[in-house]
Amino acid sequence: MTKGHPMPDSQKIYLSDYTPPAYLVESVHLTFKLSPNATRVISKIRFVPNPDSASRDFFLHGEHLTLIRAAIDGQECSPAVTDKGLTAQVPDAPFTWEAEVEINPQDNTALEGLYMSNGMYCTQCEAEGFRRITYYPDRPDVMATFTVRIEGDLPVLLSNGNPTDSGDGWAEWHDPWPKPSYLFALVAGDLRNHPDSFTTKSGRKVDLNIWVRPGDIDKCAFGMEALKKSMKWDEDVYGREYDLDLFNIVAVDDFNMGAMENKGLNIFNSSCVLASPETATDANFERIEAIIAHEYFHNWTGNRITCRDWFQLCLKEGLTVYRDSQFTSDVRSRAVKRISDVDGLRAVQFREDNGPLAHPVRPDSFVEINNFYTATVYEKGAEVVGMLKRLVGDDAYRRALDLYFKRHDGQAVTIEDWLKVFEDTTGRDLGQFMRWYSQAGTPRLTVADDFKDGTYTLHFKQHTPPTPGQDVKQPQVIPIAVGLLNPNGDEVQETVVLEMTKPEQSFEFKGLSSRPVPSILREFSAPVILEQDVDNKTRAFLMAHDSDPFNRRESGNALARDVLRRMITDGAAPDPLYLEAKAKILTDKALDPAFRALVLSQPTQEELAQMLFDAGHTPDPDAIFKATQTLVQASAERLHQDLPRIYAAHQVKGPYSPDAGPAGHRVLANSALWLLSRLDDCKQAQAQYDAADNMTQQISALGCLQYFGHGTDATQAFYDQWRHDRLVIDKWFAMQVSNTRPDQTVATAQALTEHADFDMKNPNRFRAVFGALAWHHAGFHRADGAGYRLLADWLIKLDPVNPQTTARMITAFQSWRRYDEERQALMRAELERIRDTPDLSGDTAEMVGRILEG
Ligand code: BES
Ligand code: ZN
Repeated sequence: MTKGHPMPDSQKIYLSDYTPPAYLVESVHLTFKLSPNATRVISKIRFVPNPDSASRDFFLHGEHLTLIRAAIDGQECSPAVTDKGLTAQVPDAPFTWEAEVEINPQDNTALEGLYMSNGMYCTQCEAEGFRRITYYPDRPDVMATFTVRIEGDLPVLLSNGNPTDSGDGWAEWHDPWPKPSYLFALVAGDLRNHPDSFTTKSGRKVDLNIWVRPGDIDKCAFGMEALKKSMKWDEDVYGREYDLDLFNIVAVDDFNMGAMENKGLNIFNSSCVLASPETATDANFERIEAIIAHEYFHNWTGNRITCRDWFQLCLKEGLTVYRDSQFTSDVRSRAVKRISDVDGLRAVQFREDNGPLAHPVRPDSFVEINNFYTATVYEKGAEVVGMLKRLVGDDAYRRALDLYFKRHDGQAVTIEDWLKVFEDTTGRDLGQFMRWYSQAGTPRLTVADDFKDGTYTLHFKQHTPPTPGQDVKQPQVIPIAVGLLNPNGDEVQETVVLEMTKPEQSFEFKGLSSRPVPSILREFSAPVILEQDVDNKTRAFLMAHDSDPFNRRESGNALARDVLRRMITDGAAPDPLYLEAKAKILTDKALDPAFRALVLSQPTQEELAQMLFDAGHTPDPDAIFKATQTLVQASAERLHQDLPRIYAAHQVKGPYSPDAGPAGHRVLANSALWLLSRLDDCKQAQAQYDAADNMTQQISALGCLQYFGHGTDATQAFYDQWRHDRLVIDKWFAMQVSNTRPDQTVATAQALTEHADFDMKNPNRFRAVFGALAWHHAGFHRADGAGYRLLADWLIKLDPVNPQTTARMITAFQSWRRYDEERQALMRAELERIRDTPDLSGDTAEMVGRILEG
């Protein structure tokens, strides 16, 4: 690996270079002799020549392995070994490969392959971690059945599939479903289980377990309910039944990602499965429910049907994110889920798609696949599935999915295969639609209108700006959901989906008696930036009357963006029109409280920086911060009479429930508290903190106290109360950074790294501090560069320990070209310092190179 320089093209892997594997695998037998620094892995693998491959070159991936011995058909052999894998002379006929390797789970801080977390063994194999366990064709188009024997002095020994036999210090497992190596998993530890069961619609009983460390057993009940709900939902909505007699979930404390869908043995970051009312917030509960659903849904979209190669990652991730968002919409509120998904899409995916890291939903080259688990692959990938459904309709979508499951069960497939089932079901040509997978960048959709002789016409133009490596863009198929309102607020045209395919296109609505007010891109029907010349009166009108809740909030959001833009660029005062519209929503009892809270929330500083940059301004983080503060203060003052009433009216009585109903009341009350705290010196917040009996109430109050400078005692008390709970202490770290004034953010983060409980090896703890720093817009972008420097210092320290987490967090610098020259120079200097660090990991080197060059 070249150090400190952009990736030479030779390290890039291209989709167009795909070739089928030379050998397929029929079966795999693995024996693990567990030992912290010297685990032995003995493999016995049945290979057969692939009739679909012309090559007979035998290559097995393998990294960080010590080869002890190898044999082919019982004959000892000496393969040629490099740090990437091995080659050997093999027969042009079926044969059995045997090997013994030694690995060191204890020293594996990268958390890929087999590693240890708090005394337990666990694995993470996606995308290419299995090659750190044994020599193997570690690619998703090689699917095989696995039989596993685990020998170890620990009470619980788990792997994929069904248990077949066990004794003192050993257990054997067999997974009857052929799977790629990335779905392999092993867990061993002193664990307790929360058991339950589920009977499938065809009457098969499935045993369910959530396995945790002994102290966490009281935090499993909610996750288990979420699992059963997900199993039922996938039967009801997609006709998909679970296919083994056992489904295990394990919680681990050290995990790079949120969770992993290993066949029959999902492994979760403990923060994404453990919850109790005292330790988890409403938002945590909602996320846990979604992520359990997500990993469970992968059993069909990912495991039974998997990806041919990693370029097709969106095939499983985009579709599964789409499915989990449908699930959340069904079990909670559709409008609230859509609004929060789009907020996330804009904050993270639009930022990515409009900067140096922009790439297609299906990339056509990569260096390190770990770096492509991105918002574009996931969130834009899910939007693309949503557009497909919108274009073909619900019934055809269901028929296409039935065909997908029938035609491709047991296969490793491509996006072409996925689109073909839609073409075959509907007779549509999806050639142009394919561009959503191949073309990067967020389309800009501009709209103008006219009204003549009862005919209302919408004129649309689309344009996608160039992205790195893709200068010329073709028009996309854009489903534009539109409704029309008449001037007194009634709907004269209910939602229709216009199908735009050309660079410019007009659509007519005939027979109208007066000029209507359009509601465009309802439900955010396509992932585009809508540029619409609307006056703020019309926005306020739509905010009050639109029948589409997404657009109702969107109008409020657009109004707020415009008000803030004028405050930032022209020094304007807060617009009373906006404050009045907000007051109306706050006090409208007919509206869902969670929806009201979302309408009350202001655009984030990141969103404003994006908007200003897009409009040709250089965003000034200090001015953005100041304007958002002025506007919240003005809102608090305008609403001062209503806030105490709203706060009181939405207190939830009785035992805590994480359901959407009570959670909605709490989020509205806590939004009111946040405003109220500006007016009452945090009296109410202190009272709430003192009385809180659940984490949602406790942490909302703590946030107010900290932000308004009354938090010293509460912060200490919180620590004393929760010092033995790792997940709560993660919140304690993050809260202190998030709730600082911009001039204190860096010093606070820096001080926390010196706290005895700071542990850079634990990704959750590292992200608590530095994720909070990176998301604190004005604090991170301090004019003197101290924020950039602190983050870079720690990324340089983290890289040799955990390259994957380092490479993800360096994305905090991706928008560096948006800012003024001084800040650009400061960020560039830090990026170059990271780039020039000796022995930088390949993961981080690729990211820093792309950020600097793109
Ligand atoms: N398959 C992924 C986990 C994964 C990601 C493994 C990257 C290896 C590298 C899993 O299904 C997933 O997508 N998890 C998400 C959460 C999900 C709800 C979107 C995660 O871990 O963040
Ligand atoms: Zn996933």
